[in-house]
Amino acid sequence: MPSIAVYPGSFDPLTFGHLDIAARTARLFDELHIVVVHNPAKTPRFTSEERIELIRGSLSEAGRFGTPMPSANKIKIVVATLDKGLLVDYCRMVGATALVKGVRSNADLDYELPMARVNRDLAGVETIFMPADPQHGFVSSSLVKQVADLGGSVDKYVPAVIVRALAATAVNRK
Ligand code: PNS
Repeated sequence: MPSIAVYPGSFDPLTFGHLDIAARTARLFDELHIVVVHNPAKTPRFTSEERIELIRGSLSEAGRFGTPMPSANKIKIVVATLDKGLLVDYCRMVGATALVKGVRSNADLDYELPMARVNRDLAGVETIFMPADPQHGFVSSSLVKQVADLGGSVDKYVPAVIVRALAATAVNRK
């Protein structure tokens, strides 16, 4: 039976930090689902479909900027969306036994720990906390959007396909 992990998030948009977590997780499982989940606490910049396309574009770009994404022959990477329903139901549907969350700080852990416990209680799905690489420890989707909107360069933080999408959707730029 293949080992399957789900990496959920808003990914609004995906950053190099997310890509690093995905690449490191992909080395531990046979199959990885990167799932764009609707977070009712946030108003997204990009639609779910746009975020999926940006993730797919970033994955295919990954080889070019040196992130060691595992070969597509060795691991199956699925990019999907979950607009309603429980994440653990998605896990059940695809046969995933683990959720993966990137952790940059104690604040991230405080936010994630109750969800991890609920998901284990609801369906026995375990959560793996992957420490963010220090290189990406301060990068967040919201900061990236803010820097891009104010005219700063975000090339260091997001793949080129996302740099272009942010430029095309920038708000408040004079
Ligand atoms: O990137 P984000 O916004 O921090 O991601 C948060 C997300 C979407 C991963 C989180 O809100 C989540 O896990 N939602 C799943 C919805 C769910 O099943 N909730 C009930 C048990 S925690």
